[in-house]
Amino acid sequence: MPQVLLTFSAPFHSLAQGEAHRHGLSQFQTLSPETMLAACPDCAALAQHWLHRPPIYIRHMFPVQRSGRWRGTGALRRELAEFPPARLQLRLPAWHPPGEEARLEGLWTGAPERILSVLVHETRWWAGLSAPRLNLSPWKGGAPQYEVDSGLVNRCEWKLREAIDTFGWRLGTGRALDLGACPGGWSRVLLRYGLSVTAVDPRPEGMTVQHARLEHRAEPAECFLRSAPAGGFDVLTNDMWLPAEETARLTRDAAPLLRPGGMALVTLKLGNVSPELESRRGPLRRALAILREAYRIPRLRQLFYNRFEVTAWLVRS
Ligand SMILES: C[S@@+](CC[C@H](N)C(=O)[O-])C[C@H]1O[C@@H](n2cnc3c(N)ncnc32)[C@H](O)[C@@H]1O
Repeated sequence: MPQVLLTFSAPFHSLAQGEAHRHGLSQFQTLSPETMLAACPDCAALAQHWLHRPPIYIRHMFPVQRSGRWRGTGALRRELAEFPPARLQLRLPAWHPPGEEARLEGLWTGAPERILSVLVHETRWWAGLSAPRLNLSPWKGGAPQYEVDSGLVNRCEWKLREAIDTFGWRLGTGRALDLGACPGGWSRVLLRYGLSVTAVDPRPEGMTVQHARLEHRAEPAECFLRSAPAGGFDVLTNDMWLPAEETARLTRDAAPLLRPGGMALVTLKLGNVSPELESRRGPLRRALAILREAYRIPRLRQLFYNRFEVTAWLVRS
C-alpha cells in the first residue's frame, strides 16, 4: 500500500496518530518523536480533502514514492535525480554539519510549484514529489523560517505570523484589540500589518513596544471589556496564559467588541503536565463549545510555534 510521511509536534504524537487513523491511515511506524510513516490507501484524495479541511495536529505530509538505504549525500543525489525537476526540501539528521541541508537544496533547481520532500532518518531516506499546497504547509516539515529581525520582541511574534500565514489572513488598516499583550510581540506584528492596536495587559511597565498607533491599557482584560464600546474592533487576539476554557470564556465575552464578521485569533493552552495526552481533548472540546456561542471556527491548528497549545481562527457570528 502507498505510504505517507507525517510530521507533528512530539507532545501531540498520539493525537496526530488518532487523527490520521480517523482518516483511514494505518500501519503507523514512528521514525522520530515528530515523524511517522503510515499506509495510505489514497494519498491524493486525502491531500485534496485536507486542503479544504486541514487536520489539527498533523502539520506536514508528503506522499512517499521512493525510499532507500542512506549511503551518503552523493548517493542520495544520484537516486533523487530520477525525479522530475522540483524544489528540494531536505531534512537531514542533526549530526550533519550546519548548513548542509541548505547547501544541498541550493544545488537543486526546479519549478517551485513542485516540491521534492526528502527525510533522512538513521539509516534510511524517504522521498516524494507533490504540489506544495497538498503538503498541508509550504514550509519544510511545516516549520516556518522567518528572517533575522533585530527588533524582535519574542518568539510569540513568529507564532502570530505563522498563524496569519497559515490561515491566509489579509490584514490591512483597521483596529485590533490584543488581550494579554505584554511584552508586545503580537502587538508589534499587528502594527507592522498597518493596524492600530489597543493592547490590554495589567503589567504597568510590561509593554516594550512604543508606536503612535499603539495604546497600552494597563488593566485586566475583564475590566477593559466592561468599559469598551461595542463593535469598535476589526480584529481580536488573545494569547493569555490561561487554561483553554478560561481563554474561551474571556474571548466569548469579548465578542461584542468586534464588529460582526470581525476575526479573532486565540491560543488555547492544553497543559503540559498530563502524561495522558488524550485527556487534553476534553478541555479543548469544552473550550470550543464555549467559543461557538459567539463565533464560527473556520480553522484550528497545532502550529510549529505553538508549544502545548493550539491556535483557533474565529469569526464573530
Ligand atoms: C504569554 S504572555 C503574552 C505574550 C504576548 N502575546 C506577546 O506576544 O508578547 C501572557 C500575558 O497575559 C497577561 N495577562 C494575564 N492575565 C491577564 C488578564 N486577566 N488580563 C489581561 N492580561 C492578562 C500577562 O500579564 C502576560 O503578559
